[in-house]
Amino acid sequence: MSERWTPSSWRNKPIQQVPAYPDLDALKDVERQLAGFPPLVFAGEARKLKRALAKVAAGEAFLLQGGDCAESFAEHSADNIRDFFRLFLQMAVVMTYAGGSPVVKIGRSAGQFAKPRSSDTETVDGVSLPSYRGDIINDIGFTPESRIPDPRRQTEAYRQSAATLNLLRAFATGGYANLENAHRWMLGFVKDSPQSSRYSELAERITESIAFMRAIGIDPETHPEMRQTDFYTSHEALLLGFEEAMTRVDSTTGDWYATSGHMLWIGDRTRQPDHAHVEYMRGIKNPIGLKCGPSLTAEGLLRLIDALNPENEAGRLTLICRFGADKVGDHLPALVRAVKAEGRTVVWSCDPMHGNTVKAGSGYKTRPFERIMGEVRDFFAVHQAEGTHAGGIHLEMTGKNVTECTGGARALTDADLSDRYHTYCDPRLNAEQALEIAFLTSELIKRESNSRQRPAPLAAE
Ligand code: PEP
Ligand code: CO
Repeated sequence: MSERWTPSSWRNKPIQQVPAYPDLDALKDVERQLAGFPPLVFAGEARKLKRALAKVAAGEAFLLQGGDCAESFAEHSADNIRDFFRLFLQMAVVMTYAGGSPVVKIGRSAGQFAKPRSSDTETVDGVSLPSYRGDIINDIGFTPESRIPDPRRQTEAYRQSAATLNLLRAFATGGYANLENAHRWMLGFVKDSPQSSRYSELAERITESIAFMRAIGIDPETHPEMRQTDFYTSHEALLLGFEEAMTRVDSTTGDWYATSGHMLWIGDRTRQPDHAHVEYMRGIKNPIGLKCGPSLTAEGLLRLIDALNPENEAGRLTLICRFGADKVGDHLPALVRAVKAEGRTVVWSCDPMHGNTVKAGSGYKTRPFERIMGEVRDFFAVHQAEGTHAGGIHLEMTGKNVTECTGGARALTDADLSDRYHTYCDPRLNAEQALEIAFLTSELIKRESNSRQRPAPLAAE
């Protein structure tokens, strides 16, 4: 691990989940072209996010990370981005106001295109083809031609990421995120749901608070934090040739940064300590995430932390735990204890999606709402018991009214899944379900901070 790092040193390591490009010259050409394109994000922004995450690590803020499992070329539209962003703002405002905690906002967006697969092939009606690996690599259509990895898709993914980011930046800073608009963020189809009346009440209270603040001389015109927000992007750093091409030296510090997104994470299938993905990630200075699944031992985790955050920098490393609702209690305490005992500073985040995927009777892949929320609850309970901070949640969600996860206030059933099952990969929470998770999580955040503020009982004399 102490060998010299370069943006391409991962190429000397064993690697998992690589697409088999038939034309390697074409791949090289694309990587060369990408290396000359402007960065999508800037080192200073990544550093600002790291400082915000350091606050999460210290127990002073909460992380909300979420978005599509896989972005797609076909669903790239201003409406989709706006609906996602306003749902995200609603969730963040619920957690800030009802949970009483500052919220760090990171989208799984503007670059979340490459997907790890459990199997290299997919079989339908006796026909086997290479698996779909995300729009940046091949096409989802079930034909042999569609599944051939095409390097030109990488420039298309770059273009789409730039356009998405451009709109997100405009929404975040151009007035849309002004807290005075909180009551306008409600999505049309959510209006007649239990979440909507709960949200409207909260928005009403925010409006009253702003009116009060205005009366005492604090208003969005003079306080930019009331009319704009910091919104960051993230994706799984899976396609390392693409990431290498987007890795640049920051002229102010001389450090290397991934400029394809503010935060990158290592997937659960590619976290082997001596392999390519860990090698690449250890050298970039961005804040990074590490997915922690049931096969990760406490010893294995400490080894990865040594490699990825040897200086124990606060905000550098977010551990995104995804065990499954029935396994959190078995796996998380040992990891938390080991990290705490070694004095490592990390953000603990809960991905309640990837360990809770089941196959419905109808054949659809789904995730039951109760299992998702169950994992979040157990995650908070473990941190409560260990005296550590339940720092964040990581969700697959969309601003659209899809039917991909069962349950929630509207009690979607297996039979409903076929109505609007649109995902390119894993089942996502729809807007109503995501808002419900935000409300339920805000109660857990509040409970955690109340129990921390309660004075310790006096020692018996
Ligand atoms: C994902 O986040 O979409 C994913 C594939 O997760 P994991 O690596 O945890 O399986
Ligand atoms: Co997924």
